[in-house]
Amino acid sequence: MTEKIIHTAAEVVERASKEKPADAVLRTELRSRTGISREDGRAISIAVFAYYRWHGWLNLKETVPQQIRRALELNEAFQKNQLSVSDAELLRAVPGWIKDCVEVSTGWLRALQSEPALWLRARVGQGSELARELGDCRSAGAGALADALRYEGTKDLFRTPQFHGGRFELQDISSQVVGLVCDPKPGETWWDACAGEGGKTLHLGDLMRNKGLVWASDRAAWRLQQLKRRAARAGLFNYRTALWTGATKLPTKTKFDGILVDAPCSGLGTWQRNPHARWTVRPVDIVELAELQKRLLGNAVEALKPAGRLFYSVCTLSRNETSEVVEAITKQFPKLKPWPLPNPFDEGAAETNQLWLWPEKTGGNGMFIAAWENG
Ligand SMILES: C[S@@+](CC[C@H](N)C(=O)[O-])C[C@H]1O[C@@H](n2cnc3c(N)ncnc32)[C@H](O)[C@@H]1O
Repeated sequence: MTEKIIHTAAEVVERASKEKPADAVLRTELRSRTGISREDGRAISIAVFAYYRWHGWLNLKETVPQQIRRALELNEAFQKNQLSVSDAELLRAVPGWIKDCVEVSTGWLRALQSEPALWLRARVGQGSELARELGDCRSAGAGALADALRYEGTKDLFRTPQFHGGRFELQDISSQVVGLVCDPKPGETWWDACAGEGGKTLHLGDLMRNKGLVWASDRAAWRLQQLKRRAARAGLFNYRTALWTGATKLPTKTKFDGILVDAPCSGLGTWQRNPHARWTVRPVDIVELAELQKRLLGNAVEALKPAGRLFYSVCTLSRNETSEVVEAITKQFPKLKPWPLPNPFDEGAAETNQLWLWPEKTGGNGMFIAAWENG
């Protein structure tokens, strides 16, 4: 890697902070510099992400460029041979406090140190056709997972006619599983309460074959604007947007067949793709976010139809969020009955209302999903 690349990566690292995550700084940096080739941009990204992935091994007394070079060496050795790092050493991949709130396993840590996969979501039923057209795609499996494609090629996917034609979205496999287990039916009425930029709204709308309605709310108007652009590209019209801050006053009086609360969370499940967050999340964030999740769920419950289903998903794996939130909500609302969820990665598995998706098992982000029926 050239000195210029290392120094640009170092500038990104020096500018990044909790408030300005490295991936956002990196995007801005690459956009603002003219004359950076696609290959150089990729090399800078690799250097920045290697720095955070191997941060626990670095000598912080060295200069940032020196640390980046060391991180790249460690990264290369590990990608060639995972045994270059012993199980005991792997604990350096995450902050020490994490073992108090996550089930830390060697498999998880090894996954965190590996390069993340790129996943596409083809439109319902179009996985194999899209894979043939794009090439370099591997389907995640049969049945429900057939439209989830792992892309292993080098094309700029955003420039493909298939992307512009709304034939696929970039969406992590675990996020795709959220839509799949919600399993909305055409003609139903759903509420995607924390819709953000619409990753899951679009999936729900597609699974409903553009029939019925998905209310998409978020507290950030700019995110909903982005959702509208994506929906237009996909030719999806069975949705409406509304602002919702999470307060007791709901965005509509409509009652729903299904509600998805894809809640704001600590994002521990994205630590493979987003290693900077390993060093910025604090234990207090986890506690506060768990409280917010309970509040959002507790307020959303009121909008369920009788026999409507409530889904709670978070891309995190801390117990305070996830299972402890489920316990609290189940206790607070005796009318909610656990709703069993299939595991698309293990169709023979006994169904429970809590699905843990670990990166080492799925090849995607860590994710937790739970569901109840309004009994
Ligand atoms: C995990 S993200 C949602 C991702 C989105 N569902 C997707 O699949 O692309 C959580 C979203 O919750 C929103 N949010 C955060 N705090 C909120 C609150 N108090 N009330 C409502 N939405 C909130 C954020 O703006 C963010 O878009």
